[in-house]
Amino acid sequence: MKKSLLDYILRNRLPLTVFVIISSFTLTYFVSRPERDGVGYTPVQPINYSHKLHAGDMKIDCKYCHTNVDKSRFAGVPAVATCMNCHTVARKDRPEIIKLTQYYRDGIPLPWKRIHKVPDYAYFNHSVHVNKGIDCTACHGEITQMEKVGQMNSFTMGSCLNCHRNAHDKFPELKDQIKKGPEYCSACHR
Ligand code: HEC
Ligand code: HEC
Ligand code: HEC
Ligand code: HEC
Ligand code: HEC
Repeated sequence: MKKSLLDYILRNRLPLTVFVIISSFTLTYFVSRPERDGVGYTPVQPINYSHKLHAGDMKIDCKYCHTNVDKSRFAGVPAVATCMNCHTVARKDRPEIIKLTQYYRDGIPLPWKRIHKVPDYAYFNHSVHVNKGIDCTACHGEITQMEKVGQMNSFTMGSCLNCHRNAHDKFPELKDQIKKGPEYCSACHR
């Protein structure tokens, strides 16, 4: 039975032709599809933490938690200890806070899912942007309105360059204090 099927496939061109057509379509799709871009990525996080509540309603400063954003390349995500400054008292009977406290007691860092990420071969630096007066919202959207953070903007090379070229049009109010962003390759590929 098997043998005769193989015979059939080898003698008839049709199945082979169909196979070749399907695989070339598949190949074309994978080669030419748009690059992966995290826009819209809004993962479920291990603790149901809300920026809208903390940074929006309660107006806690971004830098209270993202302590390195104006000092270094990375903004940084706070340790559980930062949350416990308040949550040893605030809402400590709530299920999410009990979970939070458990991580703290066990000394386990919270496994927050990383949302925004440029590939390792590209160099991005927060402090050079933030210290020039570029607001978080220019790149991250209205975080203070988000119950759950998601990626709002594209961080492809094209979108970095788009802002770099048009920085003076995008930030007319900063015109006197910022240069345009660099376009030469080694600025971002070191
Ligand atoms: C009380 C602490 C706290 C404050 C205040 C806070 N954040 Fe966060 N932020 C976190 C935590 C915890 C995470 C990781 C969990 C998450 O994504 O919700 C995070 C995640 C983020 C992310 C996504 C990080 C990634 O993985 O890509 C961005 C962007 C961000 N915050 C921006 C802001 C901005 C802008 C403000 C001020 C308007 C702010 N945050 C205020 C604690 C805080
Ligand atoms: C400056 C104080 C402060 C800090 C720092 C803080 N919180 Fe809160 N958080 C509060 C207060 C107050 C509430 C209750 C607000 C309300 O319900 O009106 C709250 C509410 C919450 C809730 C909702 C609890 C519920 O079910 O009612 C969660 C979850 C939470 N916080 C997680 C976190 C995490 C995670 C961090 C650290 C990244 C953090 N908080 C840092 C003050 C803080
Ligand atoms: C010019 C665009 C831009 C601005 C302005 C900006 N970010 Fe980001 N942010 C990014 C990019 C790009 C990434 C991914 C960086 C990477 O993978 O190294 C990122 C990642 C993050 C992360 C997660 C990774 C990390 O760096 O620890 C946090 C948290 C964050 N940003 C917070 C902020 C806060 C808070 C502000 C404002 C004070 C801000 N960002 C301003 C572009 C920006
Ligand atoms: C919203 C606008 C905006 C976006 C988006 C943006 N940049 Fe910039 N960037 C600027 C501006 C403006 C400057 C120049 C600031 C100055 O020197 O006055 C700059 C400067 C830089 C510098 C030079 C820093 C130095 O040491 O002088 C690098 C590197 C850089 N950006 C990388 C990136 C990368 C990588 C991305 C994308 C992931 C990106 N930027 C996205 C506006 C932006
Ligand atoms: C403002 C920052 C910036 C500058 C300037 C820049 N790049 Fe990039 N480049 C990036 C970022 C961010 C990525 C990763 C995101 C992506 O794949 O688009 C990237 C990705 C790439 C890739 C991989 C693309 C892919 O499709 O996988 C190549 C190749 C590259 N850059 C070459 C260059 C060359 C050549 C120059 C100079 C003409 C240059 N870049 C200038 C930020 C920059």
